[in-house]
Amino acid sequence: MSEAIHKIHYSALGKRASEPVITDLMHRALDNSELLSLAAGFTDNITLPVELIQSAVARLGQDYPQAEYLQYGTNRGRAGLLIEIAEWLNADRGEVQPAPFSPESVFVTNGSQQALYLAMQALCDPGDVILVQQPTYFVFLELLRGLGIEAVSMPVCEDGGIDLEALPGFLLELKTRHGAERIKAVYLNSYFCNPSSRSMSVAEKRAFGRALHSNGLVLPVLEDAAYRELWFGKPWPAPSVFSLPEYDVFPKLYLGTFTKPFATGLKIGYGVCSDEEWLGKMLSLKGHQDFGSAHFNQAILETVMASGEYRTHLERLRAHYAAKAEIMGSVLEASPLREMGWSWDTPEGGLYYWLKAPEGVDLSIGSDFCEQCVSSGVLYVPGDLCIAEGKPKYFARLSYGSLAKEKLEEATSRFCTVAHSR
Ligand SMILES: Cc1ncc(COP(=O)(O)O)c(C=O)c1O
Repeated sequence: MSEAIHKIHYSALGKRASEPVITDLMHRALDNSELLSLAAGFTDNITLPVELIQSAVARLGQDYPQAEYLQYGTNRGRAGLLIEIAEWLNADRGEVQPAPFSPESVFVTNGSQQALYLAMQALCDPGDVILVQQPTYFVFLELLRGLGIEAVSMPVCEDGGIDLEALPGFLLELKTRHGAERIKAVYLNSYFCNPSSRSMSVAEKRAFGRALHSNGLVLPVLEDAAYRELWFGKPWPAPSVFSLPEYDVFPKLYLGTFTKPFATGLKIGYGVCSDEEWLGKMLSLKGHQDFGSAHFNQAILETVMASGEYRTHLERLRAHYAAKAEIMGSVLEASPLREMGWSWDTPEGGLYYWLKAPEGVDLSIGSDFCEQCVSSGVLYVPGDLCIAEGKPKYFARLSYGSLAKEKLEEATSRFCTVAHSR
């Protein structure tokens, strides 16, 4: 009998696929209940809208036996939800009128993560370049690596903004190195950025649009607004790039989600695309992947948005995260970290503190500091993961999202104790 040889020959994509670093951190937290995680960008279970969902489902149930919401929906998303999303984005946010977001440009996705993936699949081949901020959303960096795309950080100022003076020289050098046609898009995390919690001012957005234009780079702009609803004192005043004339000539993709501000597990996000052709290509790719996001979940969201309950839910949620940010901030401020040369800004929204240790301190995965934190029962996200070039290594992201208030205090103290002991 001949011996069968089973061997899997992977695609280039399959070969590049590797376990994200964060899953290791999350497994460690799940395997050890004593370990308190400030790492994962999870929401707080206590804020999840159980009653709102129950009542929305009960209202949907009144349509029985129609139950169209338990049938497949359309690839682009449920018509009523597309309208709700466009109306939501156009209202009260300083967007120019007439409304820049139209329901025809919206598409619903399996979290905004899927919209990011579709956008990159439609635009990029391996070896292409995406411009990102420093720091930026590290799961997006992993996504790019998986697709063989190179993320390149734009120059950054001391205050975390894009360094507009250094930008022309940087862009020129980049175009010479890669060829302008390989630079495919810019990714902006402009509202309470993950991980820095920094937002872009309207002046910075405008100046950046002008700088790209005058340097001959009119390319797709992705604006990721995953945390836009999670403001504490007041909404971030800058409108989206859809409203700014400097971006009129740019193809634009705005990304939003209901996972952070509403029901995480429904995993519904969306994109709004200003360019019909690009939108069509992303939709074709989505058609190949899943031909539509969970229709029932979309029906729930449509019901909650149409009733106005989403707005009231957000008010409660903002107060909750503002209080948690304050708890973490008080523990940090009461610690000797600032005297030791650490620094951070107090977030005005979002889920994260972004800490800068003195230069030379190594907070990366596997560093002594990181291991000491694990053995002291606390996890954080090493900041180098959030930087395309993987350095510097003296930043840390601490999330106040998921832990209950008492545990949050304890976890932050543990982190400060480790920092102080070194
Ligand atoms: C900046 C940013 N964008 C996009 C996402 C994707 O979120 P989701 O797929 O849950 O909508 C996240 C999730 O953490 C994020 O932090």
